[in-house]
Amino acid sequence: MREKLELLTKEFDEMINAALKKEEIENIRINILGKKGTLTSLMKDMRDLSVDMKKEVGQLINEIKKDIEKRISEKIEFIKNEEINLKLQNEWEDISWPAEPVQGTIHPVSIVRKELEELFSSMGFEILDGPEMENEYNNFNALNIPDDHPARDTQDTFWLRNGMLLRTHTSPVQIRGMAGRKPPFKFIAPGKTYRNEATDACHEHTFHQIEGMVVDKGISIANLIYTLKVIVSNIFGKEVEVRLRPSYFPFVEPGFELDFRCQICGGTGCPVCKQTGWIEYLGCGMIHPEVLKNGGIDSREFQGFAFGGGVERLVMMKYGINDIRHFHGGDLRFLKQF
Ligand code: DAH
Repeated sequence: MREKLELLTKEFDEMINAALKKEEIENIRINILGKKGTLTSLMKDMRDLSVDMKKEVGQLINEIKKDIEKRISEKIEFIKNEEINLKLQNEWEDISWPAEPVQGTIHPVSIVRKELEELFSSMGFEILDGPEMENEYNNFNALNIPDDHPARDTQDTFWLRNGMLLRTHTSPVQIRGMAGRKPPFKFIAPGKTYRNEATDACHEHTFHQIEGMVVDKGISIANLIYTLKVIVSNIFGKEVEVRLRPSYFPFVEPGFELDFRCQICGGTGCPVCKQTGWIEYLGCGMIHPEVLKNGGIDSREFQGFAFGGGVERLVMMKYGINDIRHFHGGDLRFLKQF
């Protein structure tokens, strides 16, 4: 009897250690403890034993039975935990990870603005910010646009009751940027600008510009052209032809307008480029000595170039958008495309 019990415990040991699934354990349980199980039938065999032996073996069988039951439930617990761990591993989530936007998309103007910022940063430009509510001096006078200057008429201004205005361009950041710096320096200033204008497919009262300023010794127009060509080519992801046309802005001398090849028709002429093959993109030029002086910079020692232009126009070219009013239209069908 004892030998049979020993053999049974040994077999149980082997089986329980090898079992990997709950079903296997259930089978082991039935085979040993079930109605026709090996331990159960040994218990039945006790009938034939003497009273003393019955007592002794009965105790032993009870202990073995308890032990087997205990180890079966431990093993089931172990397998359950294993399953949970495996599940957790597969469902692993880093709760410190920034949330994905659940709804909505990044506005196309923000996409291009960020691209421009990264591009200019990689070329060593600082990125400056300026207030949208600006004073008249920074927006006009310091930029060589005195009270009676006709250039004021080309920038219809939203005047505020407190005597301030909504900046009509990002150029006032030139004045703010110069005030806190000693040359050499280079920075850009992207941001929102406002004009009191009627809107149409090409004009908005609220739009974005990006301003740029580079001041150092020995700066020339060649530096200006090179910088802008690199930027435009990077935005479109290929080499893009640019050209300068003489133009007038009070804060630069000489002043130019920079055009780039129409990316819609490739230069053959289309409605977007008004059949010219060129897109007028931004104003630029060599910084006027008067402006440098207003920024506390000696124009005999330092020169520089500046540029400024609309961001929306670039976005429209890049994505083939034909109406500037889409940007503030709030139409989700438009916004969800980006
Ligand atoms: N501020 C001008 C505008 O809004 C654009 C401009 C022209 C900016 C020439 C410049 C520049 O920095 O040099 O029309």
